[in-house]
Amino acid sequence: MTDWIAVEKQYYMFCARRQPVVLVRGQGTRVWDVNGKEYLDFTAGWAVNNLGHCHPAVVKAVQEQVATLIQTSNQFYTIPQLQLARLLVEASGLSKVFFCNSGAEAIEGAIKLARKYGKVRKNGAYEIITAQGAFHGRTLTAVTATGNPHYSEPFIPLTPGFVQVPFNDLEALKRATTERTVAVLLEPVQGEGGVIPAHPNYLKGVRDWCDRNDLLLILDEVQTGMGRLGTVFGFQYYGVQPDILALAKGLGGGVPIGAFLCNERCNLFQPGDHGSTFGGNPLACAAGYATLKTLLEERIYETSARMGQRLKSALEQVKARHEEAIKEVRGVGLLLAVEFYHPIAPQVVSACNDEGVLLNPVRPTAIRFMPPLTLTPEEVDEGVARFERGLVRVLKEK
Ligand SMILES: Cc1ncc(COP(=O)(O)O)c(C=O)c1O
Repeated sequence: MTDWIAVEKQYYMFCARRQPVVLVRGQGTRVWDVNGKEYLDFTAGWAVNNLGHCHPAVVKAVQEQVATLIQTSNQFYTIPQLQLARLLVEASGLSKVFFCNSGAEAIEGAIKLARKYGKVRKNGAYEIITAQGAFHGRTLTAVTATGNPHYSEPFIPLTPGFVQVPFNDLEALKRATTERTVAVLLEPVQGEGGVIPAHPNYLKGVRDWCDRNDLLLILDEVQTGMGRLGTVFGFQYYGVQPDILALAKGLGGGVPIGAFLCNERCNLFQPGDHGSTFGGNPLACAAGYATLKTLLEERIYETSARMGQRLKSALEQVKARHEEAIKEVRGVGLLLAVEFYHPIAPQVVSACNDEGVLLNPVRPTAIRFMPPLTLTPEEVDEGVARFERGLVRVLKEK
């Protein structure tokens, strides 16, 4: 049998420390590796497979579209793009959308739009305030917005015009605001930062500050959107409307697609300002349309809220049985984390692979839980049981 891990080592750039698991198939909450071993997938392709792996509605839409029309460029109109645009705009209460291919690209577009707003409406203001601990993607400007030297330091010089302030600190954000400031860019829950939810009053306070100072509020919902927090978009959970919204991950049911939306106030792009060869192609948009339609019609975001509560309380029970190891269980909806006192997350994740549950060691001291939103109560319980078995193995070895 081919040693795929050796093939990766020989041919693929070393950008990720992967788990030694070669996945070949997925269905719902479960995936299978090349040896036929089954796992509960509580990583969901990094919060992408919100409807589960290979959801029948997505598979059908992709199969039909792939045999009909895959790609045309935006020189022409295509129907799946416009069907998805209408549904997304109506569901979000925003005014216009642009489709791209990834989260980082959605953030890039959002930043360009904010800069255009500064140029046209705010005397050339261009600075964007972002939060420490944020993650906005891997393009040069997105790593600059992320503001973590770990991601950006090797690539200096970076894009100018970004200022970082501590997350959940409204006063710091106010102090950082100058006449150069055009926008504030935040995640409702910092995902890669370790699953750190915004305080509800913080986001409301930021919205109010933006309104009073003619700043745009850009919400990065690449990870929190599409039902993950128990509402269709995370901003609905927080009761705060953004001016610009970035989406990707769960939008395509597993197929790559990103989007950014804006309200009428900053709907300022004109022909030539922005574009994308693949952005909004019929194949990705057909997948996105099937995904969003299913999410809305079957109210899957409500399941996410219910299963999120069940998962959180099951993890709280694990914490109660292992008080010496687990410091905190936190998060919103089905974006949760277990924080340990010690940096044991990588070992626990590796033991959990053996036990048959896939998890993400988001920090050395924290494991992130982001399963498909469609998981059943039994899968929640089974996943937590497998996690606890993995944890116990690591604690015994210590
Ligand atoms: C909040 C957030 N923004 C942006 C990105 C970048 O998305 P992508 O990897 O699709 O470029 C991510 C990826 O994890 C993310 O979590």
